[in-house]
Amino acid sequence: MDKNINDLKKYFNFDIFADIYDKTREISNSFQSIISLLFKKSGFKKGDRPIVLEVGIGTGMVISYLPNLRNLVPKYIGIDISKKMLKILQKKYKNSDLEMILADAYYLPFKKDKFDLSLMVRAVHILPRWKDAIREVKRCIKDNRLLVIITGGPGKKILNKCPSNDKYLELREKYGYPLFYYGADWAEIPEFIKNELNAQIEIFEGTYSVKKSLKKSLIEFEDQSMTWHMQVPKNIHDEIVQELKEFLLRLYSNLDIEEQQLGYFNIGFIKFNKSN
Ligand SMILES: C[S@@+](CC[C@H](N)C(=O)[O-])C[C@H]1O[C@@H](n2cnc3c(N)ncnc32)[C@H](O)[C@@H]1O
Repeated sequence: MDKNINDLKKYFNFDIFADIYDKTREISNSFQSIISLLFKKSGFKKGDRPIVLEVGIGTGMVISYLPNLRNLVPKYIGIDISKKMLKILQKKYKNSDLEMILADAYYLPFKKDKFDLSLMVRAVHILPRWKDAIREVKRCIKDNRLLVIITGGPGKKILNKCPSNDKYLELREKYGYPLFYYGADWAEIPEFIKNELNAQIEIFEGTYSVKKSLKKSLIEFEDQSMTWHMQVPKNIHDEIVQELKEFLLRLYSNLDIEEQQLGYFNIGFIKFNKSN
């Protein structure tokens, strides 16, 4: 593994989120129904034995939503740089033939043209060199096979829209810590795929709606449970959350209610023509 891995982990070290990851993240129903589309689009036929790569597999949330995984995909390999995320994944799939490898998305430990399908789910927005990571997948995937990139909506729509998130972003700007990306903003991806990689991309955009209790949201803010919370030093983050709590109490008068949140996602189905 490349020595740069330690530098990269300074930006987004999922070891610190591993224990709370599954409790604080979810995959919505509409997102799930599109994930199941990918098997249709992949063109696999009965009897095929496709090899699938998931880059940034984390705790395996995506595979847990793929129906009949074992039947459709006998060989599923996930890579991640977080040992702790992989440890949780290992516990869930200890008797399975799922293969997990501690590896860096920029230096995939595979020969070229190995995979029949590759997934990058909720990953490119946190990869500072996301273009290199996509180029690496291109190297490892077979000609004309699918890379599926799934991420949140464009720009700040990566956060679910609701009064608490909107106010949180406003307060961050006021305190001098606006949200920023270490990795790709969705809006940059199709252009890169078409113009720099000369590949085809088919895009699906969707929304979903979730209810979350204000208490739960506030605990997540207090604990800096999300990667974007970590962009603000803890003491300042605490002040922001205190102001946020006062705002929510003024708005709703109590914190026992559930807030309706509107989420956005984008899916890109990408096919490389490797003779390009
Ligand atoms: C937001 S999580 C997504 C996990 C999973 N795909 C999901 O949707 O639940 C992002 C994952 O990417 C991993 N990651 C971050 N940088 C990486 C890199 N350079 N190489 C490989 N994995 C990386 C993190 O450790 C983390 O597990």
